[in-house]
Amino acid sequence: MEIDVFTLFPPAFAWFEGQRHVANAIAAGARLEYVDYRDHTPLRSGQVDDTPFGGGAGMVLRVDVVEAAMRARYGRDPVELASERRVIALTPGGRVLDDALVDELAAEPALTLLCGRYEGFDERVLEHMVSDRLSIGRYVLAGGELAAMVVCDAVLRKLPGALGHEGSVVEESFSAALGGAPEYPHYTRPAEHRGWRVPDVLLSGHHARIREWRLEQSRMRGDAETE
Ligand code: ADE
Repeated sequence: MEIDVFTLFPPAFAWFEGQRHVANAIAAGARLEYVDYRDHTPLRSGQVDDTPFGGGAGMVLRVDVVEAAMRARYGRDPVELASERRVIALTPGGRVLDDALVDELAAEPALTLLCGRYEGFDERVLEHMVSDRLSIGRYVLAGGELAAMVVCDAVLRKLPGALGHEGSVVEESFSAALGGAPEYPHYTRPAEHRGWRVPDVLLSGHHARIREWRLEQSRMRGDAETE
């Protein structure tokens, strides 16, 4: 998996890359690279944004700046690129990320993530230069960087070698193995704390009953969510 992140703040990702599962994924062959729009802007003094036509608050990331950065990275027309590669703009109004979309992205050989800032992208970026618009939820962040980290985190942890325990991503909340329902509850030692006891079935050593109990718990949580 190769992921290119276009951003005005590459250093924002330093902490993220230090996370164990991310470092593991990179050690196992994933590649994460950053392109700073500002390094490729055709405008003077590092300008990347501009005021919106028609007036209004905030600044808009310019289409020519995004195009220049993409051409510098890929050496080709971004319009063509978007028909062959997942080029994803992070934007609050996009398709909302869920486990199925994470699986879809994790199966791609390469991703490009475009982070917006300020009021977001000039609409022509979204219309012509991307294959996807992706949101991590219906709220507005000050920029796409945290959203890009969320996408990278969710995708990279699905790759072989990222987690210590491969089974963790097969049967987890919202996975097909649990019919899309939230995961069942987990407990560890002590078996009792302040009178709060771990359910007896989990201490029984009876694997079939434990399995049945877990699936039932997961189903109940799913039902509670849809009520
Ligand atoms: N950029 C700003 N807010 C965002 C959101 N909710 N999801 C993705 N990108 C964003």
